[in-house]
Formats: sequence, structure tokens, C-alpha cells
Amino acid sequence: MKITSVEFVRSIVSPQEIIQDNLNQIAFSGRSNVGKSSLINCLLNRKKIAKTSSTPGKTRQLNFFKINNQFYFVDLPGYGFAKVSKKESAQWRNLIEGFFIQNQKLAGVISIIDSRIGPTELDLQLLNWIKSLNITLILVATKSDKLSRSVLKNNLDKYNKQIESLYKTSIIPFSVINRTGKKEIWREIITLLGQD
Ligand code: GTP
Ligand code: MG
Repeated sequence: MKITSVEFVRSIVSPQEIIQDNLNQIAFSGRSNVGKSSLINCLLNRKKIAKTSSTPGKTRQLNFFKINNQFYFVDLPGYGFAKVSKKESAQWRNLIEGFFIQNQKLAGVISIIDSRIGPTELDLQLLNWIKSLNITLILVATKSDKLSRSVLKNNLDKYNKQIESLYKTSIIPFSVINRTGKKEIWREIITLLGQD
């Protein structure tokens, strides 16, 4: 897709602030520090429209980016970050639940796992949950540059088996370093947006 404009629209902390207009939304979810913001920047050919950090827990709010005046990318706050208080994790749940349940314009979720770790318990909980809400999923295994080709292949085979009873999609390997997977992810996003 040719990116003609990217506009950071809004950061929200409560479900009441969710943007609800006529444009479709694609959300990016995953553990804290897995690489959600990096993937968004890579897809948009921008260095730092979505803030990235080597410190986990950087994205605490839910951030809306308007692309080509046609649809939104939504950077969700990461989960599974140990140094989060009970209160903060309850806020996270409330915000994410509101986003997934109330959102009429959510075209799909791009769920990101680490290609070295695979789906964690929290990832599987989220996948189960979005499946129960009938939300379309694109599953991405990021940081593939950190593995040899053969280990990556073995891992992907294993992860695909782990999730096959839930989702029939096959996991797309991705790396922000060498941009593998970028084309495939865009192809799936375009399909999702076209299904409206
Ligand atoms: P939170 O906002 O804290 O939830 O994190 P996030 O999921 O948005 O992760 P972010 O994009 O900030 O990336 C976290 C760290 O992983 C950064 O240091 C990135 O440079 C690094 N990283 C992200 N993607 C890749 C990748 O494909 N390969 C490698 N080698 N590093 C990556
Ligand atoms: Mg982030």
C-alpha cells in the first residue's frame, strides 16, 4: 500500500474516548516490549510515529493513527509487564475490553508474538477472547532476525500447531531489522479492510 499520510490523532486512557467514526480500525496487540510500535512504524515507513523503547511498558495508552484518511492503526498498550500495579492492570483490562467489545469499526487485530518465545499464556488468553468475540486475527511472529532460518521454521511449525484449534491462520514471520514479512502483513491488512 502506498502511504500518503499518517496522522497521530489521539491517545486515550478510557474506553469512553474511543474514536467511533466511519473509518475501519486495525489494532496491534501483544506483550509489552514484543515490538508492536516497531511493526507499526515499519508498515508506515516512519521512523518514530509510534514510540518505541527498550524499556518495557512504554505504550500505556491506546494510540490512534489515521492512515491515508482511510483507516486507523491502533497501538494497544502491552500486557504482561511485571512492574505494573494491580490498579494499572485493572485499568488496562477495562480499556482493552471496552475497545474490543464496543468497537463497531474494528476490522481485525494483529496479534504479535516473539518468534523466540511463541504464544505465552497471556497471548493465548487474548487469542481465545478475541476469537469468542468473532474478531478476525492476523498473527505475526516478530524479531525473526534473532533466529537462524532452521530454528525459525521449527518454531513457527510448533506455534502454528499450538494455535490451530483456535485460528486457522498461519503465523507470519517478521523482522523490523530486515523487513521480512512486511509485504505479507500488508496483503492481509488490505484483505481485512476490503471485507467491510
Ligand atoms: P510497549 O509499548 O512497551 O508495549 O512495547 P512494544 O511492543 O511497542 O515494543 P517496541 O516496538 O517498543 O520494541 C521493543 C524493543 O524491541 C525495542 O528495543 C525494539 O528496537 C526491539 N525490536 C522490535 N522489533 C524488533 C525486531 O524485529 N528485531 C529486533 N532485533 N528487535 C526488535
Ligand atoms: Mg509500544
